[in-house]
Amino acid sequence: MKPVRKVVIPVAGLGTRVLPATKSMPKELLPVVDRPLIDYVVAEAREAGIEQVILVTGRGKGAIEDYFDHAFELETTLKEKNKTAILDNVLKTVPVAGTVTYTRQQAPLGLGHAVWCARELVGDEPFAVSLPDEIVPDRPGFLKQMVEAYSSIGGNIVAVEEVPLEETSKYGVIAPKARKGSLIEMTGMVEKPAPENAPSNFRIIGRYILQPEIFSLLEKQERGAGGEIQLTDSMNALNSKQTFHACICEGVIHDCGSKLGWLQANLDLGLKNPELASAFKAYASARLKG
Ligand code: G1P
Repeated sequence: MKPVRKVVIPVAGLGTRVLPATKSMPKELLPVVDRPLIDYVVAEAREAGIEQVILVTGRGKGAIEDYFDHAFELETTLKEKNKTAILDNVLKTVPVAGTVTYTRQQAPLGLGHAVWCARELVGDEPFAVSLPDEIVPDRPGFLKQMVEAYSSIGGNIVAVEEVPLEETSKYGVIAPKARKGSLIEMTGMVEKPAPENAPSNFRIIGRYILQPEIFSLLEKQERGAGGEIQLTDSMNALNSKQTFHACICEGVIHDCGSKLGWLQANLDLGLKNPELASAFKAYASARLKG
C-alpha cells in the first residue's frame, strides 16, 4: 500500500461568508489568536506525516505564498533588535524549500474542480485533501487519525461528524451501511441534501484521503449542487468501485469560514494559549457576567 505523502489544500475560495473581512485578503490568512488558518491546517498535515503540501490557489491569493516564504526586511529588523523569540516564531512559518507547491484554479467551478487542478502535482498515489476553513485544535488532529486508519484499511476515507438534521443542506452527507467502531461503510454520499432527503445526519468534514482514480471521475464530472463541480459527486461514484469508509472524528472542529465559527475558534484557542489564557479568561468571565 502506498503511503499518503501529499495533501491538496484548496485556497482559491472567495470567503463570501465573512465579507468584507476577506474583500482584500485571502480568508485562509484570517488569524485565530496569532496564526492564520492555513498555518493550523498545514501543521495538522505535517503532524500526520505529510511531506508535500499542494496549494490550489487563485487570483488575489499571493499573500499566502508570501506567508510560506522568508520576509527578509522583517527578519533582519527583528534580528537587529534582538527580538529572538519573535524571530524564531516567524522563521517557523518557512517550510523546507520545495515542500510547498502551488497551482491555480483559474475559475471558481467548485471543490471538485479545485482538487482536479492538482492532478499533475499529485500523480499516481493516494493523497489527502484538507479544507482550510475548518481547523481542529485538539491533538492529534483528524488527519493523523485518518492516516492511521488508512494504514490498516486502505482505500478512500472521509471524515464525518454528526450534526442536527436541519443542518444537512450545508454539507456533504453520507448514507451509512455498516459501522465498526469509528469506521462506517457507505452506500453513497450526497452534496447538500435538504433535511427531508438527507440519508443520515453524518456530515462530511473537510478532511479526505483519496485514491488517484478520483481524478478521472472529476475530469468528466457534470455540475452538481449549486451548479458547481462537486467532490462529493465523484466520491460517490468512486464508492461503488473502491473501498470507501467514513471515519467518525471525535473532538472539536471550528468552521472558521463562518463568523460564529471564527469567533468560537478565537475563544477556544485564546483560552488555551499559555501567554494569554489567564488574562483572557478573567476578561471573558467578567464580560459574560456583566
Ligand atoms: C465542502 C464540501 C462538503 C463538506 C464541506 C465541509 O462544502 O463540498 O461536502 O461537507 O466542504 O466543510 P463547502 O463548504 O465548500 O460548501
